[in-house]
Amino acid sequence: MENKSVLRIEGLCKTFGNLKAVDGVSMQIETGEILGLIGPNGSGKSTLINIITGMLAKTSGSVSIDDQDITAIPAYNIPNYGLARTYQTVRLFKNLTCRENIMMGAIGVGIKRREAFDIALDLLEEMDMSDKADTVAQGLTLKDQRLIEIARALACRPKFILLDEPAAGLNEVETSELLSLLKPMPGEKHIGILIVDHDMRLIMELCDRLHVLNYGKTIAEGEPYVVQKNPEVIKAYLGSTAHE
Ligand SMILES: Nc1ncnc2c1ncn2[C@@H]1O[C@H](COP(=O)(O)OP(=O)(O)O)[C@@H](O)[C@H]1O
Ligand SMILES: [Mg+2]
Repeated sequence: MENKSVLRIEGLCKTFGNLKAVDGVSMQIETGEILGLIGPNGSGKSTLINIITGMLAKTSGSVSIDDQDITAIPAYNIPNYGLARTYQTVRLFKNLTCRENIMMGAIGVGIKRREAFDIALDLLEEMDMSDKADTVAQGLTLKDQRLIEIARALACRPKFILLDEPAAGLNEVETSELLSLLKPMPGEKHIGILIVDHDMRLIMELCDRLHVLNYGKTIAEGEPYVVQKNPEVIKAYLGSTAHE
């Protein structure tokens, strides 16, 4: 049994002028579990993710992996600390093949080309996409692009992956396929997953725990079916114009 790793966020704050976009948020994720981060439009989810992944500077608080603070680490170097991500708008190298895109994840954390090649082929097989190894990313369906992005994140051999709206733009069948792919991943790969998504069916079925933000503050956390019934959560979602 491998040791557990912990991604810990403590008292995180981010202000934009007078606006407290993230206001004293604390949460933690362990390897082996899936945590869903939800909340209405403008509640601070993207800001939080951007701080965790080094794309935005915090105002105060801390983010650490196994007690090592990562808030000062630049985004390009974050995968070396065990955290990889995907983007709401897919960011693949459009002119590279699926295999090459996945290899980039591995090479980015110092894995040699030869091994990166093998890692990419293994991941393509896991995604049931071996036949697309030499297809350039440009022509892929949105679902396949998202799978390649997930594979590229996994190729970093991370302890944690952060998925920013992986189901956005996918139909119901594709979302179910995504669910089946992700559900066993924490156990099989010994990783923790932090997911933001608006597809409540996906979130409810996939996540072990939910963390709910509203106006930058935590309003609930816990098991999905308990959180779903929380009056403050219901109120926050009913009160929001855009149901994110
Ligand atoms: N770069 C920025 N400058 C000013 N305000 C911002 C910036 N980014 C986000 N905000 C504000 O911070 C709040 C939280 O935004 P965001 O993190 O994008 O929420 P969510 O992802 O939950 O929809 C919103 O009120 C938003 O308008
Ligand atoms: Mg957002």
